[in-house]
Amino acid sequence: MDRFLTADDLAKSLRADVREGLTAVPKTLPPKWFYDERGSELFEEITALDEYYPTRREREILTARAPDIAAATGARTLLELGAGSGEKTRLLLDALSGTLRTYIPVDVSADFLEDAARGIAADHPGLAVRPVAADYEQHLHLLPGGERTLVAFLGGTIGNMPPAARIGFLGGLRAVLGDDGFLLLGADLVKDPGRLVRAYDDAAGITAEFDKNVLRVLNRELDADFDPSAFEHVAHWNAAEEWIEMRLRSRRDQDVRIGGLDLDVPFAAGEEMRTEISAKFRRERLESELGAAGLALAEFWTDPAGDFSLSLARPA
Ligand code: AVJ
Repeated sequence: MDRFLTADDLAKSLRADVREGLTAVPKTLPPKWFYDERGSELFEEITALDEYYPTRREREILTARAPDIAAATGARTLLELGAGSGEKTRLLLDALSGTLRTYIPVDVSADFLEDAARGIAADHPGLAVRPVAADYEQHLHLLPGGERTLVAFLGGTIGNMPPAARIGFLGGLRAVLGDDGFLLLGADLVKDPGRLVRAYDDAAGITAEFDKNVLRVLNRELDADFDPSAFEHVAHWNAAEEWIEMRLRSRRDQDVRIGGLDLDVPFAAGEEMRTEISAKFRRERLESELGAAGLALAEFWTDPAGDFSLSLARPA
């Protein structure tokens, strides 16, 4: 396995993110820290909720379009960013089996990658599986390219990045593609705000648990003393930015100690800390942001209901 990221690097970036986010006004935490073992389990539960449509919709599109993706790209290498989507990966690998030689899953979790890579290699004899432990927001320029590379970034995770970061990120992807590569990008679409809010604030409270899980991560990793029950989960549709914001609202005045950073953090009653943005797109915006990164839309598919999108883009 190629490792561009060690446990030590991760610990350092967690410390830097938390110090910066908890001393900012308003307070923020980056969503990447949701996903410890418990957080990843909770996310899996979210994907099965009635209210959370993106995973099902993206799977519908992939199932319908996998043969088109194979025909258009003739991919020899599949490089998957954030390789957490086992089922979608299998759909792609099966569809691409005629031309595909190498599969490169990229994830921050080396343990997760190890297991995932073993399973896929066992099911696809003849496929070279070369996992890379990396943070795709930092290490794009280090990723192996190769001939006819299809980069897959699925699930709508592009929506976690604010617009300025997105443009830089897409430009970095453009460089990984070379001249004959393709980008397969999953992105959630703007829709009725009521549905969007319910997708991020489900009746069973799983998303609320997922949101608060970041506090448990900080308690464990940074010797903090957050009381998760002293915070309330909030999902807010920001109509101007066209993104969902998840926030944790302090139920009372409280001081939180982050022992590992020697930092005391005061929260006022009602104060909200932003824990995630999940941007929702329109085709025009995707097309123009891809264009700004030197990529042109080759295909733009949605599910029949028009809830979610899959873009296939190539160097312009
Ligand atoms: C994994 C980033 C695509 O933004 O919809 C799910 C994460 N947050 N419910 C999303 C998430 C709350 C999810 N992504």
